[in-house]
Amino acid sequence: MKIFLSIVLLLISCISHQLADTTQTTTPLNKPIVVCYWASWRLSWLKPESIDPTLCTHLHHAFHVLDVQNNVVRDSTGSPQPDIYRRLNQLKLMNPDLKLIVSLGGAGQPDRDYSELISDKERRLKFINNTIDYLNKYQFDGLDIDWEYPVCWSYDCSKGPESDRPNFGIFLKELRSAFDKQSPRPLSLSAAVIAGLPGGPADHAYDFPSMASALDYVSVMTYAGAGEWDHKTGHHSKFTFCLSGTQYYVDKGIPKHKLLMGVPISGTTFKLADKTKHGIGAPIQGMGHTPHGLGDCSMYSEMCELVKQANWTKETSAQGGHDPIAYKDLIWVGYDDPYAAYDKSKWVKDNGFGGIIVWEITMDDFKPSCCSVRYPMLRAINYGLYGSKGLGGGGGGPETYGCEHK
Ligand SMILES: *[C@@H]1O[C@H](CO)[C@@H](O)[C@H](O)[C@H]1NC(C)=O
Ligand SMILES: *[C@@H]1O[C@H](CO)[C@@H](O)[C@H](O)[C@H]1NC(C)=O
Repeated sequence: MKIFLSIVLLLISCISHQLADTTQTTTPLNKPIVVCYWASWRLSWLKPESIDPTLCTHLHHAFHVLDVQNNVVRDSTGSPQPDIYRRLNQLKLMNPDLKLIVSLGGAGQPDRDYSELISDKERRLKFINNTIDYLNKYQFDGLDIDWEYPVCWSYDCSKGPESDRPNFGIFLKELRSAFDKQSPRPLSLSAAVIAGLPGGPADHAYDFPSMASALDYVSVMTYAGAGEWDHKTGHHSKFTFCLSGTQYYVDKGIPKHKLLMGVPISGTTFKLADKTKHGIGAPIQGMGHTPHGLGDCSMYSEMCELVKQANWTKETSAQGGHDPIAYKDLIWVGYDDPYAAYDKSKWVKDNGFGGIIVWEITMDDFKPSCCSVRYPMLRAINYGLYGSKGLGGGGGGPETYGCEHK
């Protein structure tokens, strides 16, 4: 059971999520936002006190799950963790505008439970009532829904009923209307969605007009876009994939200022079939792992060390973005470094999008152990969105962080 649980957590750890912003009564954002996911099961690596709340506008506590007996959210540990929530709330002393959000779901959750909840009006209303009470009790500022995905359960669009799509839309609108009645301020409502691809799962999963009106922000999980299914190496969050995966939602009518692009603080690791063939699209034996990888997920902090201290070869793929790759012998990783994070954030700002979501902050070089500053990835994102007057009190671009070479 323990082993099973840790495998599930490993999966969740590298797989996607997050997002958010305004609606009927909500006011438009006047500046881009940075939504930071914090994986609560990595508490022993990164405790609340070590989070830098000046580099995030929103902190998403990942995850809560659905309590189907009681129609409410439940901490993934099984019971509320008031001490953790209090310590997270204390980060507001350093950033009074910080929003603390409960994120519900994540990869690998039982889709049927969500589907049944949203198809039953009475249960929906109970869930909304109970969840508002829960959020208020622990001083959370809102709810983020990471159901992966309506209709397309665990990515398979033949698994869930078509009715998930309208029901999910109705559920979001009911949540919005109840959240707006909260005083002194409305609660925030957001959802994490799959990277858009015309003809892909998002076409089946989502009722776009309801999402456009009900959600404060929509986090596009523009990562996990390469894997064993391709039978070759690939960068899982390439620049062009991020642009098209986010633009898709503009074409579906979601306001740009509500759309957040995802930046992963991790790479996807492959095992090459032939160590002399190490470009994008090279043949693979399967997925690989770096010395401290979490399965095929390699954290940015480790990638920095491998390139800077262990002689890994780093290259950029020159496919329209920075898209770094690094390899040694048969192990090959496509990941995001601070330059890639900066490029995405700058694009988001220059093109009027709502901001960035980050999955997730325990994988950044937060100590730092490789770079010369803490949180180089978050810093690069802040620099891209706000320039040198960043949230964290300013600073320069990625070339000043002392990380691995570009
Ligand atoms: C939920 O229902 C209970 C019992 O009817 C009520 O006391 C409480 O105020 C409700 N909460 C909200 C947020 O409406
Ligand atoms: C890295 O490469 C340099 C030059 O090729 C070599 O001198 C050094 O020992 C290598 N370091 C490691 C950790 O392999």
